[in-house]
Amino acid sequence: MLSSPAVAGFFRDDAGNLTCDGVPLASIAEGAGTPVYVYSRALVEENYLRFDRALSAVPHLVCYATKANSNLAVLRALAALGAGADVVSGGELRAAVESGIPPGRIVFSGVGKTDEEIRFGVGLGLLAFNAESRREIEKIDEAAAALGKTARVALRVNPDIDPRSHPYISTGLKHNKFGIDIHEALDSYEGARRLSHVRMTGIQAHIGSQIGDPAPLAETARELALLASQLLERGFALETLDVGGGIGIGESGSAALSPEEYARAVLAPLHGLPLTILVEPGRAIVGAAGALVTRVLYRKANGGKEFVIVDAGMNDLLRPPLYGAIHPIESVAPPTGRPLVADVVGPICETSDFFARDRALPEIQEGDLLAILDSGAYGFAMSSNYNFRNRAAEVLVQSNGFEIVRRRETFEDLVRLERE
Ligand SMILES: Cc1ncc(COP(=O)(O)O)c(C=O)c1O
Repeated sequence: MLSSPAVAGFFRDDAGNLTCDGVPLASIAEGAGTPVYVYSRALVEENYLRFDRALSAVPHLVCYATKANSNLAVLRALAALGAGADVVSGGELRAAVESGIPPGRIVFSGVGKTDEEIRFGVGLGLLAFNAESRREIEKIDEAAAALGKTARVALRVNPDIDPRSHPYISTGLKHNKFGIDIHEALDSYEGARRLSHVRMTGIQAHIGSQIGDPAPLAETARELALLASQLLERGFALETLDVGGGIGIGESGSAALSPEEYARAVLAPLHGLPLTILVEPGRAIVGAAGALVTRVLYRKANGGKEFVIVDAGMNDLLRPPLYGAIHPIESVAPPTGRPLVADVVGPICETSDFFARDRALPEIQEGDLLAILDSGAYGFAMSSNYNFRNRAAEVLVQSNGFEIVRRRETFEDLVRLERE
């Protein structure tokens, strides 16, 4: 971040004010209030297009993992570029389709798909269900039979590979709940031959998130390539090989993996396979394209510690307490004055309600604005109404201006369903 103004995203203008694609964050905070999530449409698009270009040597589709940020305006921007989607619920599926992503470009992942979600996906005609158990394949078959359709299914395999990131976001180890043990995969494909309303068209794996080291991703691609060759030899009409998402953006002190490095790492082991390669990046497309802008309510000192209390809370951005995520925090105004070391905390009644601990910050006064960067992924998407707080507004910066793409919630929104 704070790189040259030629690059889309968050950077300081000549006067030192923090902007998103040239629009001052202070004017967005004034227009939309705080806390507010601000997204750069240009950076979302640039990140998607970098993946698309990096994979251009092979037939491919970038299936954006909508769980990272399912704001309809973000989905519509990606749909307009021809993106596919990876969804994990009926809600995400509906949001993707309503945003203009064709069902034939959507894969449906998740260990716990309900019968209703399966019927919905079968009815739409998805690119693939990423099935996570044998029972799920049977359920997809039953739903397809009832609807007089044939569903396309990829098996999510669990390759038992350590992504070397945070344990809470490792998904490809054999003790995790995800996928089918890769050693049982051949049997599972063979078992599916007797089902007449599913076609086993793909294989998929996703080993975790925030991966900075290309080695585990390349190893996963190698394992999938081996399995794909065995399946092709056995006569399965495979069409897609999906290497999942998980590409890190260099947050929390870990290394960033660029789309180009990533593509080099995963494409090498897949060379020569007659398959369309699917990737499911979420964070790498939207993470750096979003910031949470918040206003300082108080400064105080307790027990020799400095606290900066802001109007955003862990209900708005859960990642620091949940994963120990480290988000850069910048003052929106030009940084001046004597620096301080402080905890940046929210108003919620939990000690875990923090955005940074013992962080070196510029001088900060009551009323100042701060931007919590790299918050575009798993930020608003994980937000809640805890402490009966309204969820923040979301703003999309585009065409040199900004638009509120989700208004701030009101008390009426919070109680509407209780009053029905
Ligand atoms: C199946 C699947 N695909 C893709 C992703 C996206 O991961 P990331 O945002 O780290 O790229 C996830 C994240 O949990 C996932 O579970």
